[in-house]
Amino acid sequence: MRIVLLGAPGSGKGTQAQRLVARHGVPQVSTGDLLRAAVKAGTPLGRQAKAAMDAGELVSDEIVLGMIRERLSEQDAASGFILDGFPRNLSQADALDRMLAQLTQPLEHALHIDVPEAELIKRLTGRRTCSSCGAVYNTHLSPPQQAGVCDKCGGELIQRSDDNEETIRNRLGVYTEQTQPLIAYYGQQSLLTTIPGTGPVDEITARIERVLAGDAA
Ligand code: AP5
Repeated sequence: MRIVLLGAPGSGKGTQAQRLVARHGVPQVSTGDLLRAAVKAGTPLGRQAKAAMDAGELVSDEIVLGMIRERLSEQDAASGFILDGFPRNLSQADALDRMLAQLTQPLEHALHIDVPEAELIKRLTGRRTCSSCGAVYNTHLSPPQQAGVCDKCGGELIQRSDDNEETIRNRLGVYTEQTQPLIAYYGQQSLLTTIPGTGPVDEITARIERVLAGDAA
């Protein structure tokens, strides 16, 4: 299974990717997670990426493509992958196509998770992530049983530094300008399916599974 999850910040790419990993046994490759890990570790790459991430801008293609090339060459990606948050502009999409052509492993699906803007803002301001296992919650929509504590592993729940209202607005603007053109790009390659992204998380997973099984969304 080789798929791209496309969608605005907060559309549920990470939430759905975690479920698909559990069901299909292929890795989630999230450039956002890889970049946050580099920032946390204080690597030279992380230091370069931090300013762009805090402002809600895209990190340079050079950094992101280097990371993706390395990640996709790891053993666990040989049987497939779920790309979450990559590609994010036309030049990244073109570079990905060329990378996968060299590996003779072309993409099979690009799934666009579609959510209205007002809902996106609510989701992002309420998001909390487990610092230990990465499970995702929402204080408004799917709170943990005990505030600040992960239901799954007891880890501490934290808020991402780019989940404040000003940065969220900028991230949404960057999405419209730079990432939305990928909807047409994958449409032209007959890889695109748009999945309505509102409603219960399980229902959205079921819509995705129907597409992966070859049925309509
Ligand atoms: P990244 O980490 O990719 O962030 P993003 O695209 O802004 O997406 P999010 O992680 O915010 O949202 P999501 O769609 O995964 O939603 P989630 O499932 O968490 O990127 C961060 C930054 O890194 C970028 O701004 C950029 O600087 C840099 N970067 C990353 N990739 C890059 C690239 N390729 N090139 C250049 N720069 C790059 O859900 C959100 C919330 O909603 C959660 O609380 C969740 O519980 C809730 N939720 C999910 N589904 C539902 C539902 N159905 N109903 C109710 N609530 C729901």
